[in-house]
Amino acid sequence: MSDYVSVKNLIKKYGELCAVDNLSFSVNTKEIFGLLGPNGAGKSTTLSVITTLSDFDKGEIIIQGMDIRKDKMKIKQVIGMVPQDIAVYEHLNALENVKFFASLYGMRGKELINSSKEALEFVGLADKMNMRPKQMSGGMRRRLNIACGIAHAPNLIVMDEPTVGVDAQSRELILHSIKTLRDRGATVIYTSHYMQEVEEICDRIAIVDKGHMVACGTKAELVSLVTDVQSVYIESRIPNSFRFEEFKKKQQLMPDVKAITLEENTFRIDVSIEQNSITKIIEQFIGMGLPIININTEVPNLDTLFLTLTGHDLR
Ligand SMILES: Nc1ncnc2c1ncn2[C@@H]1O[C@H](COP(=O)(O)OP(=O)(O)O)[C@@H](O)[C@H]1O
Ligand SMILES: [Mg+2]
Repeated sequence: MSDYVSVKNLIKKYGELCAVDNLSFSVNTKEIFGLLGPNGAGKSTTLSVITTLSDFDKGEIIIQGMDIRKDKMKIKQVIGMVPQDIAVYEHLNALENVKFFASLYGMRGKELINSSKEALEFVGLADKMNMRPKQMSGGMRRRLNIACGIAHAPNLIVMDEPTVGVDAQSRELILHSIKTLRDRGATVIYTSHYMQEVEEICDRIAIVDKGHMVACGTKAELVSLVTDVQSVYIESRIPNSFRFEEFKKKQQLMPDVKAITLEENTFRIDVSIEQNSITKIIEQFIGMGLPIININTEVPNLDTLFLTLTGHDLR
C-alpha cells in the first residue's frame, strides 16, 4: 500500500476561524513528509487531528487502511507523537519520563526498560538518563521529548517543529535521527517553518499557508512550478585562441540553453531543468577541448518558491 496516510478535504475550525481549510495530501510509506509553512498555517492543528488528539469538522483521514473516525484507538497505537510544546514531567528523570510514555502504549518489564534506554541512546542522551528535564539545555529537552515519542517503536512518527530553539549540534543530531528512523522503516510526518531543513531531509513536501495547500511534491517538482531554468557554473582554463562569441553561437543552438555569460574563467549557462541538459553541456566542453575545473548548479530554493507562490515571506 503506497498511501500510508491519506487526508482528504480536511476542515478544522476554531469557532469562526478555519485553521485547516480543505487540506488534502497523502503520505507514502517509509518517507519523510514535510509540512512547511509559516506560523499560523495550520500545521500543528493538522497533526493533532491526524494523531487523534483533536476532532475535526469535515473530511476523511485514513491511516494504514484504518478510518480515523472508526478506529481511533487502533490508530493511536501505531503513532508516535512528538509535540511542538515540550511535554515531559519535571519531577521525573529522563529515563523515567521515557518509560512513562512508552508504558502508555502497553510496554512492560524488560522490553520497557530496554526500549526506553535505546530511545535515549538514539537521541544522544545515553549518559543523561538520570538527569531531570530542568537541568537540561533546550536542545537536550527537545531530544528527550523525541525519545518519549519514539520509545514504543511506532511505525508512524509525527514530529511538530522538533528543532525549534535548539543549538546547532542538537539540530544536526535531530535531523540525522529523523533520517535514521525513516531508513529503519518508519514513516515520518514532520513540520517546520525552516525551509533549509525541510529541503535537507524531506522526501516530499507540502507547502501550507493559512490552512490551504499551496503546493505538494518533491523539491524538484516544487521548483519546476515556478521555473524551468537552472544555472550551471563551469570553471575552465580558457586558451588564448578561444572565441566566446563563436562558442556562444554554438551552444545556443542547443534547445535547452537559454543564456550564456563568461566572467573570468567561469561560464554561467542557464539551461532547462531536465536530466540531460548538464550532460550535453559537459559533452560540448569536452568536444571543444575546454577542461572542466569546477562545476556547480544553482536552482531556486524553496524560500524563493514560497514567496513566488504566496506573495509573502515564510516568516
Ligand atoms: N486551540 C485553539 N483555539 C483557537 N484557535 C487556535 C487554536 N489552536 C490554533 N489556533 C489558531 O489556528 C491557526 C492555526 O494554528 P496552528 O495549527 O497552531 O498553526 P501552525 O502550527 O502552522 O503555526 C492559527 O490562526 C491559530 O491561532
Ligand atoms: Mg505549530
